[in-house]
Amino acid sequence: MKISNEFGLPNLDLDNDAYFSQLRQKDFSRLDQEGHTYLDYTGGNLYGESQLKAHFKFLSEGVFGNPHSINPTSMRSSEKVDETRAAVLDFFNAKEDYICVFTANASSALKIVGECYPFGDEGHFLLLADNHNSVNGIWKYCELAGGSFEYAPIRTDNLGIDSISLEEKLASQPDKRNKLFAYPAQSNVSGKKHSLDWISKANKQNWDVLLDAAAFVPTNKLDLGVYKPDFVSVSFYKIFGYPTGMGCLLIHKNKFHKLTKRWFAGGTVKLVTVGSPNYYLTEGHERFEDGTLNYLDIPAIKIGLDYIQEIGLQRINQRVKETISYLLEQLKDLKHTNGQALVRIFGPDNIDERGGTVIFNVFDPSGKVYPYFEIEEYAANEMISIRAGCFCNPGIDEANYCISNEELSNYFINRDEDELFDMIELLHSLRGAIRASVGFITNRTDIDKLVKFLLSFKDKNKTSNPTRKKAHAVL
Ligand SMILES: Cc1ncc(COP(=O)(O)O)c(C=O)c1O
Repeated sequence: MKISNEFGLPNLDLDNDAYFSQLRQKDFSRLDQEGHTYLDYTGGNLYGESQLKAHFKFLSEGVFGNPHSINPTSMRSSEKVDETRAAVLDFFNAKEDYICVFTANASSALKIVGECYPFGDEGHFLLLADNHNSVNGIWKYCELAGGSFEYAPIRTDNLGIDSISLEEKLASQPDKRNKLFAYPAQSNVSGKKHSLDWISKANKQNWDVLLDAAAFVPTNKLDLGVYKPDFVSVSFYKIFGYPTGMGCLLIHKNKFHKLTKRWFAGGTVKLVTVGSPNYYLTEGHERFEDGTLNYLDIPAIKIGLDYIQEIGLQRINQRVKETISYLLEQLKDLKHTNGQALVRIFGPDNIDERGGTVIFNVFDPSGKVYPYFEIEEYAANEMISIRAGCFCNPGIDEANYCISNEELSNYFINRDEDELFDMIELLHSLRGAIRASVGFITNRTDIDKLVKFLLSFKDKNKTSNPTRKKAHAVL
């Protein structure tokens, strides 16, 4: 745990309000100078100016060459990459048991698992319906390899795991040799934190577990000394904003051998010959790091981790919880004069089960929903950055709108158009929602601005009439 104050951040003795207000002034003043209300932290976190200064100082004071050589500039880069790798493992308390592979983002980390997991050898892939498309897409690798796959459903009332069904599915493949279960530690859509206890439950029944931690780790401690998934995917910009284009795959050392790399590239081989087409792959993380590493940006990951640790992950967690609670309270109270709810929130009721993310829809006084794209557009006019749509996670949306598997299959049989609006028309059901997500630097003024914006729809009747089925809404 870092306790030095190398970024000159506010005094740690301050209470949360004072601390984050000073931090915002010091490192995020561009938000207020430019009049932004940024509420898309699950999309991407914001970086503090101190991170940039530290990285530019590092770059401007050093000479760094391409790693993989013993020349001095190359060695310098390798040292910094090694240092950062150790810092990442340390951050997740994973030094003993895990290998850290640097990737371009969480999606590339997930792709490695998809490409290399032995689905073809009596393989089965079980995935939660609440997954990002970068996890969903892995079923295609499974199918191509000849494995079987299925989804574990989520509950339509609170968007949590349907525990009975998941228990059944975990018990249902006793004879399969290579079973992979994938779920997100936190939903990128509903903000629902799914219990990490599913990791050991699945492991005990011989499942390997792929934990997509991309939406969880920016505001929660993932202690891999306690919870031990076999594979973990992370995108660093979601934790500290800068640099983009960097993520990692953490592989449990016991499962490293299970991933079969299907080709070789520069940097991944110990020996390769042309005259006789043979090669030997390297034994460690290098095996999955194709070509030249992003050796100038990787040191900025260490800076980002130091920055987060200097603020304190616990403080961040607490702050985000306070802020999202404040937002939820405000949203719950928004009503039209006739008593109709202006906003309906989806997802867990219990604040302890929710990260800093909320999805909702906006309704007019007669109960007609405003299309999400209209709200997003109006918000953009007010310099409010919220996100709308299905957020690369169609399972949540299908649950929210009670769209059956049969309806979806019929759509694909009867239609060959390939876009959402076509599907909306055919299913007679609007899709999508609006997502607001908060970060440690979000303050009450940001929330009040969003609420004021939503209140501008109070008592206003919608003129157009998009088709809609009854959506499950909670809170
Ligand atoms: C839970 C989750 N998994 C995976 C991803 C994919 O991350 P990236 O686009 O950085 O690869 C995201 C991005 O929003 C996410 O929230």
